[in-house]
Amino acid sequence: MLGYFKQAIEQLRSENRYREFLDISRICGEFPYAINNKNGKKITVWCSNDYLGMGQNPTAIDEAVKALKRFGLGSGGTRNISGTNHPLVELEKEIADLHGKEAALSFVSGYVANDATIQTLAKIIPDLVIFSDAKNHASIIAGISNSRAKKEIFRHNDMQDLEKLLQTYPQDQPKIIVTESVFSMDGDFGKIAEIVALAKKYSALTYVDEVHGVGLYGATGAGLCEQLELANEIDIIQGTFAKSFGVIGGYIAAKREIIDAVRGIASGFIFTTALPPVIAAATLANIRHLRCSDFERKKMQENVAHLKAELKKVGIKFVENNSHIVSVVIGDAAKARAVSQRLLEEFNIYVQHINFPTVAKGDERLRITVTPLHGEEMVGELVKSLSSSLA
Ligand SMILES: Cc1ncc(COP(=O)(O)O)c(C=O)c1O
Repeated sequence: MLGYFKQAIEQLRSENRYREFLDISRICGEFPYAINNKNGKKITVWCSNDYLGMGQNPTAIDEAVKALKRFGLGSGGTRNISGTNHPLVELEKEIADLHGKEAALSFVSGYVANDATIQTLAKIIPDLVIFSDAKNHASIIAGISNSRAKKEIFRHNDMQDLEKLLQTYPQDQPKIIVTESVFSMDGDFGKIAEIVALAKKYSALTYVDEVHGVGLYGATGAGLCEQLELANEIDIIQGTFAKSFGVIGGYIAAKREIIDAVRGIASGFIFTTALPPVIAAATLANIRHLRCSDFERKKMQENVAHLKAELKKVGIKFVENNSHIVSVVIGDAAKARAVSQRLLEEFNIYVQHINFPTVAKGDERLRITVTPLHGEEMVGELVKSLSSSLA
């Protein structure tokens, strides 16, 4: 039997898809620096999804320590069996309020939030047809395939294709359109306004994954739907606590009946231990901070604009978008890996290469994330090192 595993590993290696995880130690208080435990050197991290550095927010850390001392480490079990620790109750209220929805429900991760919710929607709504963008995240794809509902995949951000598919169903057939607000690899925005219009025309529900939008867009960091003033038009907003909010966990926000039904039926919610109070308390502190402060959002955008301008000056091409994600497409798995290795070994700069299946074959890239703490000097170093590593 072990032969199958060896064969699988061999195949991954032969396709340059074998994954090696860098052993790093982030340094609290010195974001975005970390130690590369391979050689003990200090590295600058340019590929963290802790987009705003909130994982090291001193206020959130204090809240976490207080909660840890007060409630202990874990949550004690699933919510059905062991109740809900109070910080999670407060966190769900905050999330509902953030998105202007009646209620919210937390999950152990953003992945589980998508997978569990989408599966459950198909259990609740008979004959539901799911219309999903071709570039939606693996967790959405998992939810759709686990739902065994009928699915229609529309070409990425192609509203004509979506409308053509919608037209093939009767008006009274239950439908839901699923998209992301910010697509994580190319950093392009989902066509939220157009999807809302089509959903109205064809009587469909709308579901938006704001994993790469929350904290970063909108006046209070509620995401791209807030920025577009369309949050009210979205039936289910899904998000994560793990990226801009700096901790771990996922959620959905929607009308009370939707949340109540999902809570009572979703296997991925019912049969797993709830997020611990320490996590809920820290996340709550970060969300509250980002609802009031747009300093981090503005500074991040400034730094992103600066990096994009500097890359242009030296002729390094990246995927054009209006977001914070800067993707330098290399187009070859081995080369992407080699460039990433050179950056690390010669310049102590960590930018993970991204290969299939995270991106399509031929789209291998370096995905750079710029935070408020990547100042001008760091940008200068990155651009110089990248020019040399790409040569
Ligand atoms: C678009 C999208 N949705 C969902 C997830 C899963 O979120 P989490 O990391 O909280 O599980 C990710 C993860 O990167 C993602 O990119």
